[in-house]
Amino acid sequence: MTAPLGVFDSGLGGLTVVHALTEALPSEPIVYLGDTARVPYGTRSAETVVRYARGCAGVLTARGVKALVIACNTVSAVAVEILRAELDLPVIGVVEPGARAAVAAAEAETARRGHPVKIGVLGTQGTINSGAYPRAVSQLSTRLEVVGQAAPLLVPLVEEGWIEGQVPELAVRRYLEPLLAQGAGVLVLGCTHYPLLAPIIARVAEELAGHPVPIVDSAHATATEVAQLIAAGRIAPGSVGPRLEVLVTDRPRSFAEVASLFLGERAPEVTQIDL
Ligand code: DGL
Repeated sequence: MTAPLGVFDSGLGGLTVVHALTEALPSEPIVYLGDTARVPYGTRSAETVVRYARGCAGVLTARGVKALVIACNTVSAVAVEILRAELDLPVIGVVEPGARAAVAAAEAETARRGHPVKIGVLGTQGTINSGAYPRAVSQLSTRLEVVGQAAPLLVPLVEEGWIEGQVPELAVRRYLEPLLAQGAGVLVLGCTHYPLLAPIIARVAEELAGHPVPIVDSAHATATEVAQLIAAGRIAPGSVGPRLEVLVTDRPRSFAEVASLFLGERAPEVTQIDL
């Protein structure tokens, strides 16, 4: 049996990355760790997030994972380089793949519209404050500008399963207005919770802009990157068929309901662990 991919997040949002990974790589076994006892990370200091990330990575490496996927924008924004330096296995974050997909989308949109468009990033306070997306984009393009907007209300809305109707729509509108007013022509879902709000984000953005606005989902971009690393032989391919083990540090009241929202299927069995 091949070693599994290790995937972790502050909570259940990273299951959107697991969903994308199982679509792109159906035969890869996955161990997922959600630090549900300490979610959210997005409002904490970078030092605290790094400390928590080391704890999560330690649990997964002790289980012999062959690569680590950081399924959290906040952790990827502040800890990916640290974990890469400290660990002896491939470490994939969500920010770099998300930035690459955003650059491609912004270049296509610039050509389509006939004028330069900016990349708008929605994320947690931690991700936006870190400047990780502007940094990652500047490595790929010296022309493209990035504008960011922290959207702190969206994580609790998704965690409540409140992903349709007036309340999420009003919150999304409040966060998108300044981004679009600054010239954002593509939008990056820079938080693993936001793909669940993608239909509302797309609808409100189209209404505000007067035309469809391309949406970049860092979960899919990351799954594609992992698939490319496997195809290139940099991560050993799995061969046991789909198998998902889920570890959590606390079992939220509505775990099964919320987990199945993120995963797009019935909630898997979970094991509670201590960090
Ligand atoms: N998973 C986090 C992210 O992608 C959002 C939740 C949190 O704040 O911990 O940034």
